[in-house]
Amino acid sequence: MENFREKTVLITGAAGGLGRAIALAFGEAGADVSLADVNEEGLHETAALVSGRKATARVSVVDLSSRQACFNLVKETVDHFGALDVLCNVAGILGPGHTTEISESVWNKIVAVNLSAPFWLIQASLPHLLERNGNVVNIASSGAFIGEAYVVPYTATKAGVVQMTRSLAMEYIKKPVRINAVAPGPMATSMIDNVQFPEGVDMELIQRYMGIRPAADPAQVADLVLYLASDRAANIHGACLVSDGGHSVC
Ligand SMILES: NC(=O)c1ccc[n+]([C@@H]2O[C@H](COP(=O)([O-])OP(=O)(O)OC[C@H]3O[C@@H](n4cnc5c(N)ncnc54)[C@H](O)[C@@H]3O)[C@@H](O)[C@H]2O)c1
Repeated sequence: MENFREKTVLITGAAGGLGRAIALAFGEAGADVSLADVNEEGLHETAALVSGRKATARVSVVDLSSRQACFNLVKETVDHFGALDVLCNVAGILGPGHTTEISESVWNKIVAVNLSAPFWLIQASLPHLLERNGNVVNIASSGAFIGEAYVVPYTATKAGVVQMTRSLAMEYIKKPVRINAVAPGPMATSMIDNVQFPEGVDMELIQRYMGIRPAADPAQVADLVLYLASDRAANIHGACLVSDGGHSVC
């Protein structure tokens, strides 16, 4: 099991299925966790579960769709715990719809949460991560690599997360920091369980990207995130590791 004692980990989307699984896994491994999400109730539930495992958790109820909110979150985390070792960019929204019906505000929101927030959080975190030989794990999606109808803004932002990871890794290749991504396939979380496609979609196209194997338990993906954030992955930089049950080869 990985050991993250005396390490501080910032996790966004911590009220959600994968964010909670990652928070519990880091808590189990002894980390201090800073948990952020716009969903206050879910966030407190996650914090209670983590604290039950004797880890230290703090929460920030925050909408991460502005640069200032991202900078405030990093500052609050460092002010509270005194350092930052790992940033996990997990918060995300799907926003399904027919391409011709997606409004400017929906497009802007998906870009703000899925792509801009990880960038601003990395920008704010880098000075702290560099002091601690720390690292970033961005959550992308297998949808970054295959075509998925009716979720075009989502997959475009996730492809952006993969390329942002690569280019940041190159820019920081001579510095003491690692930047990686994980691309999950379908997981049993509210993003999939509660998805509502609009009228008139072609279900055959959607079935093609819902995966052949059953949706994964987010704890499986959280395991990979912990490995990537650990010293055992010291040689992994600029990678996007896929954990999708073969979803992206179908
Ligand atoms: N569930 C899947 O099948 C799947 C597949 C591939 C990738 N992913 C990715 O995994 C990550 C986690 O998703 P999940 O499956 O746990 O879904 P989820 O809906 O359970 O969790 C997403 C979390 O992000 C939070 N969030 C949304 N907008 C926010 C904002 N503006 N500010 C702060 N928090 C905000 C939500 O409140 C929610 O708690 C996402 O990046 C998602 O794109 C999910």
